[in-house]
Amino acid sequence: MIEVRELRKSFGQVQALKGISFHCEPGKVTGLLGPNGAGKTTTIRILSTILKPLSGTATVNGFDVVRESDKVRASLGVVLENTGLYRRLSGDENVLYFADLADVPRGEALERMQFLYKLLEIDYGKRQAGTYSKGMAQKINLVRSVIHDPPVLILDEPTAGLDVPSTVAVRTFVEQQKEAGKTVLLSTHLMNEVELLCDYVYIINLGLIVAEGTPEELKKRTQSSNLEEAFMKVVKE
Ligand SMILES: Nc1ncnc2c1ncn2[C@@H]1O[C@H](COP(=O)(O)OP(=O)(O)O)[C@@H](O)[C@H]1O
Ligand SMILES: [Mg+2]
Repeated sequence: MIEVRELRKSFGQVQALKGISFHCEPGKVTGLLGPNGAGKTTTIRILSTILKPLSGTATVNGFDVVRESDKVRASLGVVLENTGLYRRLSGDENVLYFADLADVPRGEALERMQFLYKLLEIDYGKRQAGTYSKGMAQKINLVRSVIHDPPVLILDEPTAGLDVPSTVAVRTFVEQQKEAGKTVLLSTHLMNEVELLCDYVYIINLGLIVAEGTPEELKKRTQSSNLEEAFMKVVKE
């Protein structure tokens, strides 16, 4: 569902991605785990067709991110670090505006919005987004990202800077999407998030995939009692 082969990207002298390959399957949460500057956001920006790779290929839902970017965008829900809600619109209006752009029939959009509001305990959809806390805005952003019911969902550090209840809501959302059979790619630097949510993990460091496996496999292979220790061993190597 997501297939990345030998992706490279440079910004001036900085080689952000040095040829990374990985794939993600439906009904699974795949983790992209790495420290700041590892290349997670660059990878996600290429997958969401915002950036073009220097070389290598990537497909989403069978579509090439460079040659078929429209079809890729239609197949994708993306949650980036900056929520980018329209501050003057209400939460509802933000969600429904996005649904309109994606040609979702209004009835269908309302039904999906109500289901997700209940799941995420959102009761403030009528208020202006400009008045929201970071957690409130991020929950609306999650709803907005899947209002067109895309088969693939990509989240870039979705719990960064959130309080505990909002973090729990993000996890509930990711689990629900997985149960619905979606392909989920989750970038994070948080080990416990990976242990809680991910079926399979790629560890990325300095623009390279340095290890991969299930959280259990990674701990076993590095003879570590927790993923934090496994991660440190892998990154040091
Ligand atoms: N627009 C940009 N211009 C210059 N350097 C960039 C740009 N975007 C990312 N980089 C560099 O690319 C590397 C990877 O960054 P990024 O993908 O944002 O990492 P992560 O999301 O894992 O923290 C870093 O060294 C970063 O400084
Ligand atoms: Mg990032």
